[in-house]
Parts: sequence; C-alpha cells; structure tokens
Amino acid sequence: MANILCIGAGHVGGPTMAVIAKNCPQHRVVVVDVDAARVAAWQSDRLPIYEPGLDEIIHCTRGKNLFFSTEINRHIAEADIIFVSVNTPTKSFGQGAGKAADLQYWELAARQILENATTPKIVVEKSTVPVRTAEAMECILNSESGNGLHFDVVSNPEFMAEGTAIRDLEEPDRVLIGGPETPSGQKAVQAIVDIHARWVPRERIITTNLWSGELSKLAANAFLAQRISSINAISALCERTEADVNEVAHAVGLDGRIGPRFLRASVGFGGSCFKKDILNLVYLCEYYGLYEVATYWEQVVAMNEYQQQRFVSNMVYAMFNTVAHKRIALFGAAFKANTSDTRESPALVVCRALLDERADVVITDPYALENARFDLGEMAGQVTFEPDPYAAARDAHAIAILTEWSHFVDLDYAAIYESMVKPAFIFDGRNLLDRARLHEIGFNVYAIGKPPLTHFATTAPIR
Ligand code: NAD
Ligand code: UGA
Repeated sequence: MANILCIGAGHVGGPTMAVIAKNCPQHRVVVVDVDAARVAAWQSDRLPIYEPGLDEIIHCTRGKNLFFSTEINRHIAEADIIFVSVNTPTKSFGQGAGKAADLQYWELAARQILENATTPKIVVEKSTVPVRTAEAMECILNSESGNGLHFDVVSNPEFMAEGTAIRDLEEPDRVLIGGPETPSGQKAVQAIVDIHARWVPRERIITTNLWSGELSKLAANAFLAQRISSINAISALCERTEADVNEVAHAVGLDGRIGPRFLRASVGFGGSCFKKDILNLVYLCEYYGLYEVATYWEQVVAMNEYQQQRFVSNMVYAMFNTVAHKRIALFGAAFKANTSDTRESPALVVCRALLDERADVVITDPYALENARFDLGEMAGQVTFEPDPYAAARDAHAIAILTEWSHFVDLDYAAIYESMVKPAFIFDGRNLLDRARLHEIGFNVYAIGKPPLTHFATTAPIR
C-alpha cells in the first residue's frame, strides 16, 4: 500500500486521482489544493467541474480511499508518491511574457515538498511543463538546503481531454512515464508503471527518458492543434470555391496515413492548453535558437486566431455590415461539448468581438454560463446569460452555434425561426446542424467551410 498525494485539485488532479483510487483500492489517495472553495466543492455533491462519469466515480471512491484536503503540509509529510498537477499558465509578465510557461506554482509546490518531507519521495510531473523542467525540480528538491532526503523526479504527462476525461483515463491510448536512467530513477518509473498496470494493458504503458517524456506532451498537443488549424485553413478556401469542408476532410481522412480524427473544421480550437502549450514550444525553440522551428509552430496559433476573427467578420458582412444593437444569440459558451470549462473558449472570443461591434449579445449554454460570466470579467455586464435556448433566440437577428452540444441539434428550429427578427441568420461554427433543413425553414445559413445558403444574392467578401 502506498500513500499517494496529488497537489492541485483541478481539471486534471481531481479526475486522474479518482481513477487511480478506483482502480487501486489498496492505495490511499489524497488530493490537496490551496483553493479552499475548490476543495469544499470536491467534498460536496456539486463537484467543481462538469465531466461525464465523474460524479459516479467520485461517489464510489470518496471517503473510502480518495480524500480532498487543504492540509497540504501534513499530507506531504505522509506521502510516498506525490503527483504535482498545478496550473502552468502562459507567463504574463517579464522575460518570455505571452509565450513561456509560468512555473511559479510548480516551483512553489516543489519547495513546499522539500520543507515538509521527512521521508524520501517520488515526485511526479503531471502538469504540462517545458522540456528540462525536471532538471530544475531535481535541483531544488535535492539542494543543499534540503534535509538530506533523496527525491526522484519522473515525468507522467496527462493526455486526457475534457469532456471525455473519465473514458480517456480508464482506457488511455498510452500512459507515458519518463525517468532518469539511474537505478533509483528506474525504480521510481517502475512504481508509477505498477500503479497504472492495475487497469491499463502493459503494452500501452511506455517508458522513456525524462526529456522525451516532457517534450512528447508538448509535441502531442502541437500536432493535435496543427490538424485543426490545417482543416480550418482549408475551410476558408472551401467557402470561396464551393467545396464542402466536411467532404474534403472525409476524403483526406480516409487515407490511412492521415486518419479521420481531429479534422472537424470549427470556429477555432479553445481550451486552457493548446494555445499555451504551443506558445511554450515556440518559446523553447527560440530559447534554443531554432527560429524557423518556432515560426512554423507559431503559425498554428496564428491560423486559429484568424479563423475566429474570420467567423465574426463573416457574420458582420452577412448581416449587411452592421450588427450594432442587433440581438445575437450565441449557442454555447464552453470551449467544447460536455464540459463547463470556458477557458480560451472561441465562444467568448466571438462574444467580445460582437460586443465591440455593439451587438446585444445573449449566451445560452447548459453547463458553462457561470464560468462564462466569470471569464468575461467586466464585459459580462453587457451580456445576457440565458439557460433556455428558445428564450435566447427570441427576437434575435442571428444565432451563432459555437459549442457542439448535442441538445442544440434537437431544438425546434421552425419555432425558433418564427420567434426571430427577419431575415433570420444562423452561423454554424461547428457544422452541427442540417443546413438544407434550416434553409428550407427560412434561415439564411452560413456554416464553416460551406457555401452559404441564403434567400438573397450574396457575394463572397474580398479581404
Ligand atoms: P486547474 O487550474 O484546473 O487546476 C490547478 C489547481 O492547482 C488549482 O486548483 C490551483 O489552486 C492548484 N494549485 C496551484 N498551486 C498550488 C500549490 N502550490 N499547492 C496546492 N494547489 C495549488 O489546472 P488543470 O486544468 O488541472 O491543469 C493542470 C496541469 O495539467 C496544467 O499544466 C495543464 O497544462 C495540464 N493538463 C491539463 C489538461 C486539461 O484537460 N485541463 C489535460 C492535460 C494536461
Ligand atoms: C486537449 C488534447 O486533446 C488532450 O490530449 C490534452 O491532454 C489536453 O488538450 C491538454 O493538454 O489539456 P482538450 O483541450 O481538453 O484536450 O480538448 P480537445 O478535444 O483536444 O479539443 C480542443 C479544442 O479543439 C476544442 O475547442 C475543440 O472543439 C476543438 N476541436 C477539436 C476542433 O475544432 N476540431 C476537432 O476536430 C477537434
């Protein structure tokens, strides 16, 4: 039996530890956080994040071998293995601002481990960190100021996606564990392998050196985001040429070398990680003098920003070059379906841009309105938050589909059309709805990467 601790009870810390606790009933798992409200929420019936399947798994583990706490120091002292899953946002100040990872929370956690440890420990990088972070961590943990204890630092990056976190954790494509090639480093790697081998087939658990472990995580996110930017780049060309991006993506994805997944054109990728991790990769390349490599990856983010801005420009252009004082209903605030997370959500980028155009914006979303209000900050005062999509669309000039929630598909669009100002527009940023059917109802339909279906003559904007 081992005492496992996770520092950071966020989107990663909570679900990953719940799955470990479920599959390793012999281990005691504690998740700690500095945020007392978050810990209280984990201890309550209303968990701090929405994630399908999470409630059930927390219900069957919490209080048995899974515990949430704010007593960080005490639990550090008791732990054998410490996962560090604190946030590593983009640095907003000083050297590398806007690109580099802000490692202050990581370093704080490491120093806290050092101060409170009375026995040797395995420290696991669960957060996404720049390659060679473990070197700095090892240096701090095994510093002279320490208490003579030995710490092994291993990398075990997390590949789960929000909205499918529990499935991804229960049946991962792979679990990656990177560690130092020293005997004690390899022993530490084996300890983390053994935990996962309780439920993950052994051939899906791969071990690498430390630096490959750290870099693979940044590379995987960059490759995934690159596919979205690639198909989004093609979507712009489709809109000018009457090609259909879904048909193109299907044809391209049938090539076994390319594969069909992650080729859904959209209003752009969001979420707390893709942009920050690519910018971090760009920063690392610049740091090592690899400027061409940096420029290559930076373009993935630039294309994403272009796609979001292009979506808003198309809206304004289609609606006769003005949306001022027009009610516009945004369907979706979350950065993807099945999550309440709105961090870097394209929906909020579109919202801000429409507010700048002086539109009257109303947002509807089944789970993410609270987070949207928080993330919009001062601008939230100018927005109406409406849980009912029918009420949101009433008297609106346009609807923009920004999150692919399945319940948006089943709405009565004929009734919605009746309640709207005419001509009524739908801008489908997720290719979620049946555009021929909407057009039949009377809507003017603009979908990503498809020719518009309108009831009046349109010309493509030249920009
Ligand atoms: P998050 O912001 O949801 O959670 C991080 C938590 O760490 C917060 O609750 C914060 O209060 C806590 N924290 C920070 N410093 C602390 C300290 N010194 N002691 C105790 N608690 C502390 O972040 P997240 O989404 O869970 O992401 C965590 C890491 O995992 C990031 O590096 C991220 O890039 C990576 N990651 C995230 C996802 C995802 O889907 N969100 C997936 C894979 C990897
Ligand atoms: C992503 C990765 O998929 C995870 O493997 C990784 O662990 C995680 O980042 C992380 O490091 O945080 P996540 O951001 O939660 O997971 O969700 P994704 O499913 O990757 O979607 C990201 C964004 O891309 C969403 O806005 C989604 O709508 C968009 N997307 C995704 C598209 O626009 N098209 C697609 O084909 C796929």
